[in-house]
Order: sequence, then structure tokens, then C-alpha cells
Amino acid sequence: SSGLFTYDPGFVSTAACESKITYIDGANGILLHGGYPIEQLAEHSDYLEVCYLLLNGELPTPEQKETFINTIKNHTMVHEQMRNFFNGFRRDAHPMAIMVGVVGALSAFYHDSLDINDAHHREVCAYRLIAKMPTIAAMCYKYSIGQPFMYPKNGLDYAENFLQMMFGNPCEEYVANPIIAKAMDRIFLLHADHEQNASTSTVRLAGSSGANPFACISSGIAALWGPAHGGANEAVLTMLEEIGDESNIDEFILRAKDPDDNFRLMGFGHRVYRNFDPRAKVMKQTCDEVLAELNISDPLLKIAKRLEQIALEDEYFVKRKLYPNVDFYSGIILKAIGIPTNMFTVIFALSRTIGWISHWSEFHSSPNKIGRPRQLYTGSKKRDYPAK
Ligand code: SDX
Repeated sequence: SSGLFTYDPGFVSTAACESKITYIDGANGILLHGGYPIEQLAEHSDYLEVCYLLLNGELPTPEQKETFINTIKNHTMVHEQMRNFFNGFRRDAHPMAIMVGVVGALSAFYHDSLDINDAHHREVCAYRLIAKMPTIAAMCYKYSIGQPFMYPKNGLDYAENFLQMMFGNPCEEYVANPIIAKAMDRIFLLHADHEQNASTSTVRLAGSSGANPFACISSGIAALWGPAHGGANEAVLTMLEEIGDESNIDEFILRAKDPDDNFRLMGFGHRVYRNFDPRAKVMKQTCDEVLAELNISDPLLKIAKRLEQIALEDEYFVKRKLYPNVDFYSGIILKAIGIPTNMFTVIFALSRTIGWISHWSEFHSSPNKIGRPRQLYTGSKKRDYPAK
């Protein structure tokens, strides 16, 4: 203590929270959802099944899964008046700015009779959000390119439906490549939840005041947007394009190590992982699969792999335990699928919505208090106003 303040033991207890949803072991690069390793879920499960797991703590039986999927399908459309919100934005508005606004506006459509203390009402909020986020995300993209919005087609799987809303048009039938749809679903799954990250903590804190859940999710989208968090996937692509050629990598490595240069290697490092982010390993494998399937040899992938190899051998990164994170390879896959860079973080927000609403629901499922992080005061000591 500096004499200005003394530690309040309650400080730590208000800063930490309890949760059953996700476990991370940063030192060993372990990520479990409901006890299941992310690698096994990525290989054997799918996004909606993981949504069920995050919400309920158990994998669904085949019957429960079918009921869950059918319930989601009943909520995929948005109120027709929601379309008006888009027209208020400039066409070149960043899709994340639109997402913050439009998702927040859902609180104007779904608020009456919503009792957040009723477990069923909380469940319906989750269903609505899981179902509507792909529709809203695709609307953001369609609005930005001046194409008509596509309605969801509930005969399709979740990822296929999203892809047809993104790339379909009223003039011709769009059929998603099954490999691409599987890769899209895996990207949703890998981003689904990640314990108390900045955006999830934002949602929990906003939710602790009893605020409308859709407004709370909007606050999570806002927090995710930053390049230090979910905005990193867009920033990785921008960085790789700026590097442009493997011969320029050393210059960027030097910049990343320069304490006077605030440039950081996007897609590297993590607040918790001091080892490989297990999601990055799966993402890298998916990247190879998608590019092989599409027969694409993206020079950016070569730069990314070379950058990873150099960084993993460089003493600066090794000493600081900086490894590729979930955002390092995801952008290359999304680019190969044809998704524009400014939509990358929207995809992250779409995927993470289940994590946000699961944590929000968990918070309200037991007696709770409003969140109130404390501070370590370092300002002026008490003093009197100067006499006139
Ligand atoms: C996500 O929390 C979550 O779980 C988030 C997330 C999720 O799923 O919700 O996993 C998603 O946000 C992943 C992170 C995406 N962000 C990026 O890829 C942006 C680039 N990464 C950095 O900005 C950084 O690594 C952070 C923001 C992720 C973490 O920042 P910290 O906590 O400041 O990193 P640190 O304490 O480990 O830093 C230790 C040292 C520092 O240098 P020194 O003061 O010791 O000299 O490592 C340096 C940092 O400057 N450092 C980097 C670096 N990351 C840390 N140097 C160069 N490049 C980097 N990327």
C-alpha cells in the first residue's frame, strides 16, 4: 500500500465470479465446455449442439437436439420493422456499428412481459438470439453491398442458412459447398464461449443491473469490436496484407518487439493462454482443409505460417509466452469463403452470442448482486477548498 489506500479483501471477491460453463487452463492450453475439450467438440459436435451444452451444461440427447434445433428455426426471422434500422446507416458504415445498433434495438421489440427471473423467459431470449444473429449479420452484409436482404430458409442447417443469406440472391438458388458450410459451423463453434473475456464480462456486468438482455448483448458486441479483442481477426488480415511478402516479415517482427512502437503482432498473445490457444490449432487445420477444398493457394497463408514459425523461435515471443490465438488463422478461412474483412468480427459476435447469453442467464439463475468492481485509488489526498 502507498499510504493512500489499503487493500480491501472484498476487492478480489467482487472482481472474481463463479461459473460452470467454461474452463480454461492458460498454462497448458486447455479449453473445456461443460468438461468437454474443445478439440473433441470441434471434431465430433456442431455449433447448435455446443449452444445447447453451454446453456444446459449437458450434451443433448438426439430428441433434445432435434427439439432445440426446431425451436431455433421458429425464431430465425426478424420483425419486418427491423429492416428500417438499416436504412438509417450509411452504406459504408462498419457492420459492427450496425450490429451494435440493430441488436440493441431488439430490446425495443422484446421487452414487454419479459421477466428475467423466469428461467423459461431467459431460455426464449437465448433461442431468439441464437436464431436471429445470423439473419441480422447477413443483413449487415447485404445492406453494405446494396443487395436485397435474404430471408432464412429453415430447411437448411445453421451454417448453410447463414451462407445462403450472405451469398444468395432472389434471382438464383444458392447451394453452399458442404466443406465450406462445415468450416463455417466449426468457426462458429470455436468462438462460442471463452470464460470471462472482456466482452463476456461486459455482458455479465450490464446484466447484473437487470438491464434488458438484448441491450446487454449489444454491450458485448461493442466490447468485442476492439482490435485487442474480437477485432483482432480483421486486424490480422490487415497486418498480413500490409506485410505483403515473406521478405518483409523481419521488419514487422522488429516493430512488434520495439517498446517505442505500439505495433503488436495481431493474432498473437493472450491475457490467459501462456501456451498455444487450443482453438488456433484447430483453426489452422481447418484453414488447410478449406484452402485445399477450394484449391486456393493464398499467399497470405504462406506469410502467416512463416510469421508463426519465426515468432515461435524468436526469444522475445518465447520469453513472453506469446503464441497464435484464435484470431490468427480465422481471417484467412473467412477470406477464402468470400466473407469481406469488415465482416470478420461480426462472425465472431454471431458465434459468441451463445456464450454471452449463457453467462447472462447463469448470472440470473441464482441470487445475485449488481456488479461493482472496486479501484485502487491513486489520486490526491483529502484537502480543503482554498479560502477566497
Ligand atoms: C481474443 O480473453 C479472451 O479470452 C479473449 C479471446 C476470446 O475468445 O474471447 O480469446 C479472444 O481477444 C484473443 C486476443 C486477440 N487479440 C490480438 O490478437 C491482438 C494482439 N494481442 C495483444 O494485443 C495482446 O497479446 C493481448 C491484448 C491479447 C494481451 O495483452 P496483454 O495482456 O498486455 O499481454 P501480456 O500481458 O501477455 O504482454 C506481455 C508482454 C508485454 O511486453 P513487455 O511489457 O513484457 O515488454 O508481451 C507483449 C506486451 O507488450 N505482447 C506483445 C503482444 N502481446 C503481448 N508484443 C507483440 N505482439 C503481441 N501480440
